[in-house]
Amino acid sequence: MPEVLIDNVHKSFGAVEVLKGVSLSVNRGDVFALIGRSGSGKSTLLRCINGLEKINSGRIEVAGHAVGRDPKELRKLRTDVGIVFQSYNLFPHLTVGENIMLAPRIVKLVSKAEAKTTAEEVLGMVGLSEKFDAYPDQLSGGQQQRVAIARSLAMRPKVMLFDEVTSALDPELTEEVLNVLETLARNGMTMLLVTHEMGFARRVATTTIFMHHGKIWEEGPSVELFGRPKTPELQQFIKSDVK
Ligand SMILES: Nc1ncnc2c1ncn2[C@@H]1O[C@H](COP(=O)(O)OP(=O)(O)OP(=O)(O)O)[C@@H](O)[C@H]1O
Ligand SMILES: [Mg+2]
Repeated sequence: MPEVLIDNVHKSFGAVEVLKGVSLSVNRGDVFALIGRSGSGKSTLLRCINGLEKINSGRIEVAGHAVGRDPKELRKLRTDVGIVFQSYNLFPHLTVGENIMLAPRIVKLVSKAEAKTTAEEVLGMVGLSEKFDAYPDQLSGGQQQRVAIARSLAMRPKVMLFDEVTSALDPELTEEVLNVLETLARNGMTMLLVTHEMGFARRVATTTIFMHHGKIWEEGPSVELFGRPKTPELQQFIKSDVK
């Protein structure tokens, strides 16, 4: 059974159809990169997977459970599926540790001691153990993004979604965040990531999806997809490396 199953999903905003029959199947431990031009539907697809957007038709399942409208199921889904965006949105008045402990305490009702142990562990995973008591504004953008990733990991998700998490960062800081993603991938996390980092997608993603006009235009093992793009649209996209 795939960890994430997407079957013929259609999604419209008003009269505009943004996803036009998207199907894909992500197995446990797979790393999927989503690439494509601005407006091709990449973010919308991620947001449908964790129920932030409702689909019009088709089916999405995560870990065998259908993503539906039931609020209780949606809460459970959001603990199974972590999502990290370009903007990290840490609470400025809380320390790094407190930011990370918040959701497990409130949503999962774990004890303070357990939340702290988990927070220390996930901060270690992103290489920021020494920042537990720091405040977000004392950290670089890259460090803040790594805290945001740790905050997501603290919920023990089965699947992680990343939407252009390095787009706001300088190259040097981009590198440290990509290293964290690569470590997660190597440790077996199931991930879907929207990225403009073609080199990273090619090297780290097991599969790359090229989205175009709301459809999966091309899909394949990353090395093949980048090495031998079949469609003129993907050839053009790779050549121009459109941001
Ligand atoms: N909440 C919304 N209401 C109306 N239209 C939306 C909404 N969200 C997205 N869209 C439209 O859906 C289309 C796909 O948007 P989406 O954000 O999924 O694209 P994207 O591939 O992530 O693009 P980018 O690379 O710029 O982030 C766009 O035309 C966008 O304007
Ligand atoms: Mg987007």
